Amino acid sequence: MKRISFVVVLLLVGTACFAQSKNLPKPNMQRQTLSVMEAYQQRKSVREYSDKLLSDQDLSDLLWAAQGKNRPDGHLTAPTAMNKQEIRLYVFCEKGVSLYDPQNHTLTQVAEGDHRDIVADRQDFAKKAPVCLVMVADMDKFGSNGQHAQWMVGVDVGIVCENINLYCSASGLCTVPRGTMNQKAIQSLLGLNDNQIPVINNPVGYPAQ
Ligand SMILES: Cc1cc2nc3c(=O)[nH]c(=O)nc-3n(C[C@H](O)[C@H](O)[C@H](O)COP(=O)(O)O)c2cc1C
Repeated sequence: MKRISFVVVLLLVGTACFAQSKNLPKPNMQRQTLSVMEAYQQRKSVREYSDKLLSDQDLSDLLWAAQGKNRPDGHLTAPTAMNKQEIRLYVFCEKGVSLYDPQNHTLTQVAEGDHRDIVADRQDFAKKAPVCLVMVADMDKFGSNGQHAQWMVGVDVGIVCENINLYCSASGLCTVPRGTMNQKAIQSLLGLNDNQIPVINNPVGYPAQ
């Protein structure tokens, strides 16, 4: 009995340590960026990145722009059909993989180590981006898997992705939207079911000189 209790305590402590959330700095609303019109003008796909890492503030502002909470009622910068908020945003970087929580503006580590290779798949350049953002459509959270639901979720994912594209072009970062990735390996690593689908990803970095 004592042994079982000891194992249970160990498991609980282990889970608590692993699933600890990290507060991100508050998004900087005064950040110096291009105007919306200039951001559209500058937007383009970029596939070469410098070694410069994103700061915590860079990551905070990027995630908030992608789909952060922007109103007290919990709505987000990215609209979703019926406000289902069914898009999960994962951050792959050298140290591990984390899940963004828009309501609390926190990151929770869900895997340790560098797994950018399964996001890059056959496009090696994506491994060189300091951060790869992966958008996962949670059809269970959406509540339906029919064709119309799939279209709506596809649009919702596209909106988050375009927020990332435009934020990057406005703030001196660079990115490319990518459908290429090893979906099965990502699902397996993150413990996702068949209804939680990695749809698109954005490697993000500073432009190579
Ligand atoms: C839904 C979608 C999927 C894409 N998938 C990839 C991809 O897997 N790999 C890649 O290098 N670029 C990918 N791209 C980027 C396109 O190739 C790129 O947007 C297109 O060539 C136009 O170039 P531009 O973004 O510079 O205007 C994708 C773009 C979209 C919108």
